[in-house]
This record gives sequence, C-alpha cells and structure tokens, in this order.
Amino acid sequence: MEKEDVLILAIESSCDETAAAVVKNGREVLSNVISSQIALHTLYGGVVPEIASRKHIEKINQVIEEALKEAGVTMKDISAIAVTYGPGLVGALLVGVSTAKAISLASGIPLVGVHHIEGHISANYIENKELEPPFICLVVSGGHSHLVAVKDYGEYEILGRTRDDAAGEAFDKVARAIGLGYPGGPKIDKVSKEGNPDAIHFPRAKVVDAVYDFSFSGLKSAVLNYLNSCEMKGIEICQADVAASFQKAVVDVLVEHSMQAVEEYGLNKFAIAGGVASNSSLREAFEKECAARKIEFYHPSPIFCTDNAAMIGVAGYYEYCKGIRHGYDLNAVPNLRLGERI
Ligand code: KG4
Ligand code: ZN
Repeated sequence: MEKEDVLILAIESSCDETAAAVVKNGREVLSNVISSQIALHTLYGGVVPEIASRKHIEKINQVIEEALKEAGVTMKDISAIAVTYGPGLVGALLVGVSTAKAISLASGIPLVGVHHIEGHISANYIENKELEPPFICLVVSGGHSHLVAVKDYGEYEILGRTRDDAAGEAFDKVARAIGLGYPGGPKIDKVSKEGNPDAIHFPRAKVVDAVYDFSFSGLKSAVLNYLNSCEMKGIEICQADVAASFQKAVVDVLVEHSMQAVEEYGLNKFAIAGGVASNSSLREAFEKECAARKIEFYHPSPIFCTDNAAMIGVAGYYEYCKGIRHGYDLNAVPNLRLGERI
C-alpha cells in the first residue's frame, strides 16, 4: 500500500444484505463481501424488517473481518469508515451505523455517512474508470425509481421519481401474482426470455404534470386485472407471456423517460444503477437506444447493481475527499433525500 493511497472500509445494511468492502482511491475494489438474507425472507414472500435487523447483528462483524482479510489489509491501513445511513429500513440501517461508529470510536478513524442511492449511482465508477460527471443516471431498485442529473461528485438534481411503486417493487409484486415467488425481478427476467413481449398490451403510464415522473401501480393493477379476468373466463395464463409483456411495459417507460432527459439536458453520457439495472432486457434496450443516439451507455456488473458495500466505499471516497466527516451522533435516516446531508 502506498502511503498516499486512500482506503475506505465500507459498510452497508439498509435492507436485506449485510455487506462490507474495502475500496482503494475510490475506484478499485479490494474486497466486496455480501451476506444475503434472500433465502430467509423468501419464506415470507418479502423482506421482514425485524428479521433483517436481527440477521445483520449476527453477521456484521464476521462480514467486516472477511472484507479486511480478503483485501489483505488491517484497520491501520484504513483512511475512513463509510456507512450507509439512509434511506432504508431503520432497524437495519442502525446496525451498520452503530457498528461503524463503534469501530470509528475505538480506532480513531474518521466516519463518513453515505446516502444509499448515491452509492448505487457511484457503482458505475468501479468498472468505468473514465466515467466522470456530468451525466444522467436512472436509478431503479426495490425501493427507488429516480431519474437523476449527476452534476458533480455528490451533487445531484432529481429530474423524476416514482409517484407510487418503485420499479423493482412492481417486478416483485407481479412475480408473486403469477406464481414466480420472491425476489421477482431476476425470475421475471429469466422466464421472459421464453415469452412473447407483445402478447398482451399493458398500459404505459404518463404523469401529466411531470414528464420525468414514473407511475407503476396502474401497470401492476392492469396485470392483476388481466389475471382475474382470465381466471373468471377459465382461460389458462401463459406465465412467460405475462412476464415478458409486463417487463416490456416497464422497459418502454424507463427508456422513453431517460432518453428524453439525456437529450433535453444536452448530455451524451447515460448510466443505470440499482437492482433492476441488472435486467437483461432493460440493458439491451438501452444499448440499442443509446447507440442510435450516439450516447455513451454505462452500467455496473450485476453484482454491483444489487445492494453491496463496494458502491458505498466509492461514494464514501468522494465524500471523504470533499472533507465530509460525521460525528458520533450520526443516526439512521430512513427517508434521507438524495443530495441532502445531515
Ligand atoms: O438495489 P437493490 O438490491 O435493493 C434496493 O435498494 O431496493 O434492488 C432490489 C430489487 C428487487 O426488487 C429485485 O426484484 C430487483 O431489484 N431486481 C431485478 C433484477 N435483479 C434484481 N429486477 C429486474 N430484473 C432483474 N434481473
Ligand atoms: Zn439498494
């Protein structure tokens, strides 16, 4: 390790993954350890907050130790501890925040609180070393759907957001309705490959007074209505066709809004982030549309799309370089807004 290298130990526990990572100079991931609770929550068809918090407490120390070991470093090499402090499930966030505060207090290493969505956006810097702001980023995860202008490191303007369900939430709910189970996104992605995306026409919702806002609850209701009417008429549904047609409706809306924003803001760089950004059909659509418009398209590998701590380490690095430090009064902020620092 060079003396001037900045090493961030990052901790993420906002939902159902207990994760820790070591990131060097903001772009190089030395380790990325993720302990997933998906199998546990699958029993209940979704994330149970109380269970998530308890599992985080059980796993977090082990995950942090592994991250340091895998990176081949000790706490003496670490420049700062970055931790997700919002948004997310409050009990889950508190485990990461309390752990980070304890380590910081014991070691004297500075503490940097990180916004979870800023982490998702920053995941794009890991494998795209040349990517720098400004660019437009579509963040689509289980809890968030945001269209964001990334003006500089840590500086964001939210252009659009969902009015109701997040994109990933819609994937999860529709998957449950057609009997695919939790988590729905990857399962719909897979089964859609065997289906016809034009078999059923589902609505593409527009929000009248805000061109970049999204609404997915109408689409979810349309799928449920379709399933009910098939059942009443005794028509057997084709799971793959419903999945593919639903997925296409989501992808169409996401692509249309995003391309409009990129063109309006005169930027030729576009990135995607969040769990839904690993969707193969969404990636293909963006690859095609961006190529046709000569826009550079960036996306993280699937492992950096879903929740992980490496992305928190990247975002934490840029906050650290700006001089952002948090005190031992740092709290979990379940509704923390993007760009807001508390
Ligand atoms: O970013 P993430 O891990 O957690 C949040 O911050 O919410 O996103 C999880 C969401 C879930 O709703 C999951 O169904 C969705 O991302 N997801 C996908 C795919 N992989 C994960 N959605 C569509 N296609 C996928 N391949
Ligand atoms: Zn997330």
